[in-house]
Amino acid sequence: MDKDFYISQINKLRKSKNAIILAHFYQTGDIQDIADFVGDSLALAQEALKSSASIIILAGVKFMAETAKILNTDKKVLIPDIEAGCSLADSCKPEDFKKFIDENPGRKVVTYINTTAEIKAMSDIICTSSNALEIINSFPDDEKLIFAPDRNLGNHIKSQTNRDIIIWDGTCHVHEAFSIEAIIKLKEQYPDAKIIVHPECELPVRMIADFIGSTSALLKFTKENKAKTFIVATEPGIFHKMKQESPDKIFIAAPPKDSTCGCSECNYMKLNTLEKIYFALLNEEPEVVLSNEMITKAATPVLKMLEVSRALNIMKKKK
Ligand code: 13P
Ligand code: SF4
Repeated sequence: MDKDFYISQINKLRKSKNAIILAHFYQTGDIQDIADFVGDSLALAQEALKSSASIIILAGVKFMAETAKILNTDKKVLIPDIEAGCSLADSCKPEDFKKFIDENPGRKVVTYINTTAEIKAMSDIICTSSNALEIINSFPDDEKLIFAPDRNLGNHIKSQTNRDIIIWDGTCHVHEAFSIEAIIKLKEQYPDAKIIVHPECELPVRMIADFIGSTSALLKFTKENKAKTFIVATEPGIFHKMKQESPDKIFIAAPPKDSTCGCSECNYMKLNTLEKIYFALLNEEPEVVLSNEMITKAATPVLKMLEVSRALNIMKKKK
């Protein structure tokens, strides 16, 4: 079957079933183009919360689909490929995390959204790379904190505050793979280029960045900055929107340490295809299923994050 067939069938099915497709920036261009909404992890959660659809297809990875389910108990949440996991979420197992919390009593637990529902259920509040600093700063100055699971985002935030934060030692296999040497070589080739970096990257890469931000922040930076060339250290799916929004600019992928591994692509994100979205809509599976108990426990810290984010946004707009 060709691409046009899947697109026309997806369009028919989403209308007849009152379904919406929410896609992350790391999805392939054809998926982003058919999605009702494309965004970063925070925007996907916000969009899921306000949706009136009967079915949500989350074209992203499992933690994103679980978050959509946590916020929509009454809706069917589908993911095109149930194997679309996340190495960062996998680096924080519930039994180990429980032990970590028990060994560090008296600390509030701030957890990155890239975690399983079980980890969210053990947390006081969730954050994403778009709002991590604001979420941390929403606590009193002397509050002792745990941050998990990404050590790079955690250290990036910690370096901007004076707070007592202990950080779980997790990483993302995509973002830890970028080569500082190869990025420096590219910069020599393109001296006017801006180096822009996701906070999940390792410290040496973050240290040479002109800008560090979430996927949506990186996209905004490329639109607003006067530079013509950008060396981009994050998953290359984001290039689709960057090129659409700034067609006259040049985007260069930061190379991974092993030039043969292709590991700057997130193999989990790239499991999703138009064909799988079509079958997910047709058969209404794979469905994200969580127990009511898990949803109730995980919803509190997710909703708290959305509340803090909303309040801060309103305050920013008033200024
Ligand atoms: P964003 O929230 O910045 O989109 O990041 C999600 C992610 O998985 C990064 O690897
Ligand atoms: Fe997870 Fe890394 Fe893929 Fe993001 S890029 S979904 S953190 S494995």
